[in-house]
Amino acid sequence: MAETAWDTYAQQKPQRRPVNAAGETTWFNWTQYPDHGPGAEILGISRGSAVLELGCGKGGNLAHVAALGARAVGVDLSMAQLKAASAGWADTVQLELHQGEALDFLAHCTDTFDAVFSVFGAVWFTDPVQLLSAIRERLRPGGVLAFSQRPPVEGCYGCQASYITKSEDEDPLVVKRWDYEAPRWAQILREHGFTSATARVLPAPPGLRQIGTMLVRATA
Ligand SMILES: C[S@@+](CC[C@H](N)C(=O)[O-])C[C@H]1O[C@@H](n2cnc3c(N)ncnc32)[C@H](O)[C@@H]1O
Repeated sequence: MAETAWDTYAQQKPQRRPVNAAGETTWFNWTQYPDHGPGAEILGISRGSAVLELGCGKGGNLAHVAALGARAVGVDLSMAQLKAASAGWADTVQLELHQGEALDFLAHCTDTFDAVFSVFGAVWFTDPVQLLSAIRERLRPGGVLAFSQRPPVEGCYGCQASYITKSEDEDPLVVKRWDYEAPRWAQILREHGFTSATARVLPAPPGLRQIGTMLVRATA
């Protein structure tokens, strides 16, 4: 069911534009706004690092990690997203793409990663009580977990319904997501054995839009 919902989403979401405002062909974007916010430095990686993205979608951020010389492993539930990622980046960088559910992938994975990240990805759409320990087991000591998502609506915390529109004549598809305020995210990470946990809301860029981006970072 969730797979169908994300395949539907994949059809609605265009590929990333070919070049950013700085003229780069690969770049990292944690936020929902173009040319905004910090970049891959949040991950603390270097050439040769092993990096895993949970819910990599069409692979734009993962491609940038690969362009920096890291081993870039991506997992996504949606085959439609992964097909777009393969088609979009095959000529530029090497991505290791896996179709599957994040918890399931982590349960069967034996590799160790220097960083795990998720941009509006599987970390937002998976119960953190199940997911965080599974991620920590696959991070090397001192490795970084970082993820971004929309901040919560005030008063709406924990598991929430997210709606993906199919068409005007059909019911929307529903997936679950988990929303918390920044201090609570830091606390949840500490409860699952992470250290140096920080969470903050990056403000939206100047303009009409008001909703910022929750950016969470911790070390194993
Ligand atoms: C909103 S999209 C974001 C995609 C990409 N990170 C980006 O920034 O464009 C969420 C992605 O997470 C994937 N996803 C959601 N839940 C997942 C799960 N439990 N396991 C693996 N992938 C998941 C979806 O298929 C989708 O591609």
